[in-house]
Amino acid sequence: MKILVTGGTGYIGSHTCVELLDAGYEVVIIDNLSNSKIDVVDKIKKITNKDFKFYKGDLCDYNILDKIFSENKIDAVIHFAGFKAVGESVSMPLKYYRNNLDSTLTLLEVMNKYNCKKIAFSSSATVYGKPESLPIKEDFPLSTTNPYGTTKLIIEGILRDLYKSDNEWSIAILRYFNPIGAHKSGLIGENPNDIPNNLMPYIVKVATKELDCLNVFGDDYDTKDGTGVRDYIHVVDLAKGHIKAIEKILNETGIDAYNLGTGNGYSVLELVNTFKKVNGVDVKYKIVDRRPGDIDACYADNSYAKEKLNWEAKLGIEDMCKDSYNFVKNSNEKK
Ligand code: NAD
Ligand code: UFG
Repeated sequence: MKILVTGGTGYIGSHTCVELLDAGYEVVIIDNLSNSKIDVVDKIKKITNKDFKFYKGDLCDYNILDKIFSENKIDAVIHFAGFKAVGESVSMPLKYYRNNLDSTLTLLEVMNKYNCKKIAFSSSATVYGKPESLPIKEDFPLSTTNPYGTTKLIIEGILRDLYKSDNEWSIAILRYFNPIGAHKSGLIGENPNDIPNNLMPYIVKVATKELDCLNVFGDDYDTKDGTGVRDYIHVVDLAKGHIKAIEKILNETGIDAYNLGTGNGYSVLELVNTFKKVNGVDVKYKIVDRRPGDIDACYADNSYAKEKLNWEAKLGIEDMCKDSYNFVKNSNEKK
């Protein structure tokens, strides 16, 4: 079975390619490298000892997609490619709508042309907005607070309309909670060049002394210690969830959404303290104002994914903290 992975050199895509190759799937990647590096291709090959095709190209470009589908018999697609920075999407909404929507529409049109009607799509827990209760179930009301989230919600709607128009489609909408961690090899992971937006990459850069001090956004939330609570999930567990989703869509038609989270909520301070403990390093932090748009707490009810995909996360936050740090230390040593 041959799987096209869009955004396959990115953070979650690269880990998913490793799991796909290890599980015996053939992989084809398309990525324009707007937020990833070409060396990831060789790193995936090194980890898996398997070869695959990589196309450098933009998903908004019909011609490159047409070329990929004409050169390869693609059985299903996992669609990761897109921009993902919430803050940037607020200041540059058109950039986000153009890239995330255009790329998806072009991809779906070409898939339709080649009669490839199986897709797993990277959505996000951000589509639940500010949930009225916890844990979050898939049938909770959907709403968004920023253009990035709105692109996810629009794409979910496009996929539902597509299925309504043609029941031969088979679509898995995967709503990720907060992926962190990295592959055990230390070869692939997440290490943004700019100042990180997300908590774990920021903690790591404070631990490696690339940044001075973590700003903890608020300690007056309605949570166990006043800091924000999230459902952190190891990226390798998340990647394995995609293998289960692919098995499902290869075997059945239909459309469904699944929460991919651990079901456990950890606060910012719990994550910082675990990171310090398991890695034996200091992480300086100070409490600052809340970040606009942040919610108190967010964690998944993952029972639907357990039941329907036969998937469940196995790794805990200690592994997530160790592996995130190991990856960045490893990449800094090689610089
Ligand atoms: P990432 O930025 O590391 O990977 C995305 C990849 O897509 C990058 O390699 C980038 O170069 C590529 N890309 C972007 N636009 C493209 C285009 N037009 N054509 C070709 N390639 C393009 O992000 P990630 O963390 O791996 O996230 C993958 C997906 O999961 C995204 O859709 C993201 O919105 C979603 N998601 C991520 C998180 C998270 O916290 N990381 C949470 C929920 C959902
Ligand atoms: N936080 C800090 N300091 C920082 C960064 C974050 O205190 O420097 C706090 C936040 O206030 C929040 C928690 O750490 O309480 C997690 O913040 P992240 O930015 O790591 O993650 P978010 O939950 O805000 O958002 C992430 C992705 C979104 C995605 C969402 C749900 O960035 O794209 O998870 O999946 F939609």
